[in-house]
Order: sequence, then C-alpha cells, then structure tokens
Amino acid sequence: MDFRSIAEQRYTTKKFDATKTIPKEKIEDLKHILKLSPSSINSQPWLFSFVSHKETKNALADASFFNAPKIKNASHLVIFSVQENLEEFERHVEENLPEGAVNFYKQFVKEQPKEKTVNWLTHQVYITLGFFLAACAAMEIDSTPMEGIEPEKYKDILKLKDHKVLFSVAIGYRDTLDGNQPNIVGKSRLPVETVIQTID
Ligand SMILES: Cc1cc2nc3c(=O)[nH]c(=O)nc-3n(C[C@H](O)[C@H](O)[C@H](O)COP(=O)(O)O)c2cc1C
Repeated sequence: MDFRSIAEQRYTTKKFDATKTIPKEKIEDLKHILKLSPSSINSQPWLFSFVSHKETKNALADASFFNAPKIKNASHLVIFSVQENLEEFERHVEENLPEGAVNFYKQFVKEQPKEKTVNWLTHQVYITLGFFLAACAAMEIDSTPMEGIEPEKYKDILKLKDHKVLFSVAIGYRDTLDGNQPNIVGKSRLPVETVIQTID
C-alpha cells in the first residue's frame, strides 16, 4: 500500500480484539524499526519497553485511567521513556557519538539548565512515536498512542532508574466493531489551507 493510503487508513484504536496476538517476528521488526529512529545529533536518548506479560500489562493498564480496557485487550503495550540522568547521557555521548556531535553537546547543550536539556531530549522521543505509528500501520498492526497514563506509577512498575516515562502505545488487532475506524467516523482534520503554507 502507498504511504498516502496508509496515512488515510491508520487510526487510534479504541477497542482491541483480545483473542489476537502479534506474532513474535513482527514484534522483533518493530523493535528494530524503533532502534532506527532518527534523532538530533543521533542522541538516541530513549528506552522502549515492550510488555506482553499479562500481570505487568494489567498493572500498567490500571495506571492508565480511561485507557485501561484498551491496554488489557491489546496484544502488547510499548512504553516510551526518556533518559533524564544527564551524567549517564553525557557518558553515552562521549562513548558513542562522533567528535562533531560531542562538540555540539559540550558547546550548546551541556551548559544549559537541566530542564531545557531534558525537554530537548523529550522531543527526540516524540519523533519515534510518529515513526512507530506509521510503521505499525504499514505492517497492518493497530495502535493507540496514550498520554493518558500515570508516568510515576509506570516508572515504579517497570523499575526504571534513569528514565522518565512519557507515553505508551497499545498495539494489537482491532475489534471489527471498533466504532472509531475511519470507514465509520472518517478522519477529522483541519483543512489543508489552515495547516500548510506553500511558497512557490
Ligand atoms: C501524543 C498523543 C497522545 C494521545 N493520547 C491518547 C490517549 O490517552 N487516549 C486515547 O484514546 N487517544 C489518545 N491519542 C489519540 C488522539 O486523540 C488521536 O490521534 C487524534 O484524535 C487523531 O485521531 P486518529 O489517530 O484516529 O487519526 C493520543 C495521540 C497522541 C499523538
């Protein structure tokens, strides 16, 4: 399918079919795709947690407000977190990135307040969300991106130390009666003239 059709057909799934599980090979493909996400200076300040373990997934669902039923019925829950231990981040930059990136980090990033740096790193993780949602749709996997979660509770459940949880994505296969499918509700978007400026 061409990318335009994929964009028209992907949607936020509100009801998953609890009897369907994403095959292992496809999960491995998704992990590989996430790993290939782009980021400023190739900083890669992220951690992606893939959860299919039922009790853990249910505990995370219970820390997700109105999103709980979606997560419980989904095949997997993927949690997106950002590195917030800047000493660790600096070590990674120095160990893994080329000289130009290290210099950029020292000149422009290191001296600024921690909040600003974590904000910049957070932007990089959000890029992976777009990449991931598009990849899922191309692989005919349904998804629900969710900021409606309790990040502190997620952090405890996942036993994270250096990372801050930002959002999660439930993935699986839609219930055929899911009322949010584009063929039922269409795609609600602002007109192209409002959101695109063209200067020819
Ligand atoms: C960062 C982000 C957070 C979102 N959080 C939630 C959420 O907590 N629960 C939910 O049902 N949908 C959530 N959504 C889905 C949006 O409401 C949805 O993408 C938007 O209404 C457009 O609809 P579509 O994805 O079906 O095209 C979120 C989407 C994004 C990108």
